[in-house]
Amino acid sequence: MSKIILTGDRPTGRLHLGHYVGSLRRRVELQNSGEFDKIFIMIADAQALTDNADNPEKIRTNILEVALDYLSVGIDPSRSDILIQSQIRALPELAFYYMNLVTVARLQRNPTVKSEISMRGFKTEIPVGFFTYPISQAADITAFKATAVPVGEDQEPMIEQTREIVRKFNYTYGNVLVEPEIVLSDNSVCKRLPGTDGKAKMSKSLGNGIYISDDSKTLKEKVMSMYTDPDHIRVEDPGKVEGNTVFTYLDAFCVPEDFGEFLPDYNGLDELKEHYKKGGLGDVKIKKFLIKVLERELAPIRERRARYEKDIPGVYEILKEGTGRANEVADATLREVKEAMKINYFEDKALMADQVQKYS
Ligand code: TRP
Repeated sequence: MSKIILTGDRPTGRLHLGHYVGSLRRRVELQNSGEFDKIFIMIADAQALTDNADNPEKIRTNILEVALDYLSVGIDPSRSDILIQSQIRALPELAFYYMNLVTVARLQRNPTVKSEISMRGFKTEIPVGFFTYPISQAADITAFKATAVPVGEDQEPMIEQTREIVRKFNYTYGNVLVEPEIVLSDNSVCKRLPGTDGKAKMSKSLGNGIYISDDSKTLKEKVMSMYTDPDHIRVEDPGKVEGNTVFTYLDAFCVPEDFGEFLPDYNGLDELKEHYKKGGLGDVKIKKFLIKVLERELAPIRERRARYEKDIPGVYEILKEGTGRANEVADATLREVKEAMKINYFEDKALMADQVQKYS
């Protein structure tokens, strides 16, 4: 069986370091491993519209931002197709048929939908499109017969729901769809990178994010104002490493070589942590180190972004080509789905023959 990746993001804003360590970095590794036959990365604008119906402009402008983020982190358009969800004509049709395989109660139990509903303060005012987006997401994944879906941990319930739909479909109509596996980041710190305030997940609404596209100066300011240990007042004071955002970020980003290069007095992160706990290591020093580590990771990404920014028509061309190839694959799956459901009336020669027989 072919190994196929389908994944994506909602274009509601620029992507941040939480997206990067939670999934983007992994996607690029998977792409470069050469182990996959096809890779599709979806800019999920239709899903973004399910709770932004009144603001299509926001979604429209962020499509390009997300595309630039993808390209800059190393998604390579010669190996991966980047596509725009709303332009894939088979998706709403697939979702329409899958809707018959899912109950309202099951959707209500979906933990991600639950928490998103309470986060947005929807009460009974939930748009139907929003409520049913897990079904549309199942269409996204199955249209490409994806075997692997590299996403952040919060997407786990979506993949589970997709797997259930696949099983139900295949059981009811015959084996057409493929059950996908979720691929998570292997570093537990990376699964839930906190914001610079240390409080919660990085998010745009909380204003605690560091963006992949932030310039050096912005990055520096954000790191220098990061939450550390509030009881670590003087350099001599012993400090806490747990819940200290700077150390959490170091856990997510630092590689052993960073010490040799930027902080040769220490053998590694463990030794740095020990010193901090004992006292005598100031926040400014660890923050400066983190800035260097992040710069090491982000500088090449920024350079790549700058190159693509100079050729926006070229980026649109990449999206158009990726979307074109994706449409062919999704159309083929839809044909198989309709055949399995026996709703391909005009292609079904046997049906015609049966009817002729019946009336002769
Ligand atoms: N729900 C995902 C998010 O909020 C975006 C998404 C839409 C997606 N369709 C997908 C992710 C299919 C993986 C596979 O980020």
